Amino acid sequence: MAKINNDYCKLRGSYLFSDIARRVREFEAANSDAKIIRLGIGDVTRPLPAKVIEALHSAVDEMAKQETFRGYAPDLGYDFLRKAIADNDYRARGCDIADDEIFVSDGAKSDSGNIQEIFAKDNVIAVTDPVYPVYVDSNVMAGRTGVFDEALGQWSEVVYMPCTKENNFVPEFPKRHVDIIYLCFPNNPTGTTINKAQLQEWVDYANKEGSVIIYDAAYEAYISEDDVPHSIYECQGAKTCAIELHSFSKNAGFTGLRLGYTVVPHDLVVEGVKLRDLWARRHGTKYNGAPYIVQRAGEAVYSEEGKAQVKELIEYYMRNARYIGEGLKSMGYEIFGGVNSPYIWLKTPEGEDSWSFFDRLLHKAQVVGTPGVGFGPHGEGYFRLTAFGDYEKTKEAVDRIRKM
Ligand SMILES: Cc1ncc(COP(=O)(O)O)c(C=O)c1O
Repeated sequence: MAKINNDYCKLRGSYLFSDIARRVREFEAANSDAKIIRLGIGDVTRPLPAKVIEALHSAVDEMAKQETFRGYAPDLGYDFLRKAIADNDYRARGCDIADDEIFVSDGAKSDSGNIQEIFAKDNVIAVTDPVYPVYVDSNVMAGRTGVFDEALGQWSEVVYMPCTKENNFVPEFPKRHVDIIYLCFPNNPTGTTINKAQLQEWVDYANKEGSVIIYDAAYEAYISEDDVPHSIYECQGAKTCAIELHSFSKNAGFTGLRLGYTVVPHDLVVEGVKLRDLWARRHGTKYNGAPYIVQRAGEAVYSEEGKAQVKELIEYYMRNARYIGEGLKSMGYEIFGGVNSPYIWLKTPEGEDSWSFFDRLLHKAQVVGTPGVGFGPHGEGYFRLTAFGDYEKTKEAVDRIRKM
């Protein structure tokens, strides 16, 4: 008889977004004239840059002709895209990353979920709390996280690094040895970052401990401050301890198109084995490559016009972030993030928990955000608003919150 992977049954339901959807549905059913503004989900709303559309059309035309038709893509990515990534995201910033250390994929969600497969089951993982849920859930599926403690809201075998206003959202080093450390900066959900010196400390720590850092840089394009690193490879020694994840979703709006990449340097060797080779093998066995058309679209992001158009997109969303941040501050809210990130993380008023604030916002302002506690127990008492909406609607949302 076939047997299931029981570790999947240990997964917690996706309570957060289904709970949000249910509460919004109930509210809408009872208030048919409600004009809800959604600042909850981290999905972009602006159309793709013109240069990307142009590249898509031209790649589609190539597929229509015998001479230029392409079948399976190389499973690690087309050379033209790997080179464009290495040139622009790394070598132009002084990071010595080779084209063959770049692995093109359909996005950072897949890579952040799949990367754990190249590590043994008995590795101990460390995550920040609050956290992007994929890191933990993919390890639950792999049977690496122990049992869930309902009271604590935590897994017994996972090391949690609280990030709250008390430590300025900078995770502290774990008190015990950990093997794999997930870091994400600029952070989802808190919108906060760490500076280069702080990231260097993590790199030094990982090299000393023999740990691997999985560095999620999905929001890198939103960095506006000088001392915030765009890549972990800006730090000395990162190539011997870090894997970096990237996405085309939040910079160029590819959430529906799907493209990302992961960097695994040759120098990253564990137990005498290059992790790069394991990841290449995994890609080769389980993945047949991102579509040619989409990789051409990705290449267009690095053209001069593409870069200018992406910059405009980021500026659009960051104008929203400023409106939300300044608006909330002027109302007396304590807010974090929103400077190097499209997320604003606010402290809920004294005595009001994340879900009560959610309900009050929904009922009084008809604005939907995300309760911080949904990202982990240390997110309790916080709330996330995103800057990915339409500017006029974002303004209206803030103005409604002011009147609430
Ligand atoms: C931290 C983080 N990593 C990765 C992703 C997923 O990116 P992609 O669309 O490339 O799969 C997200 C999406 O919200 C994210 O917030």
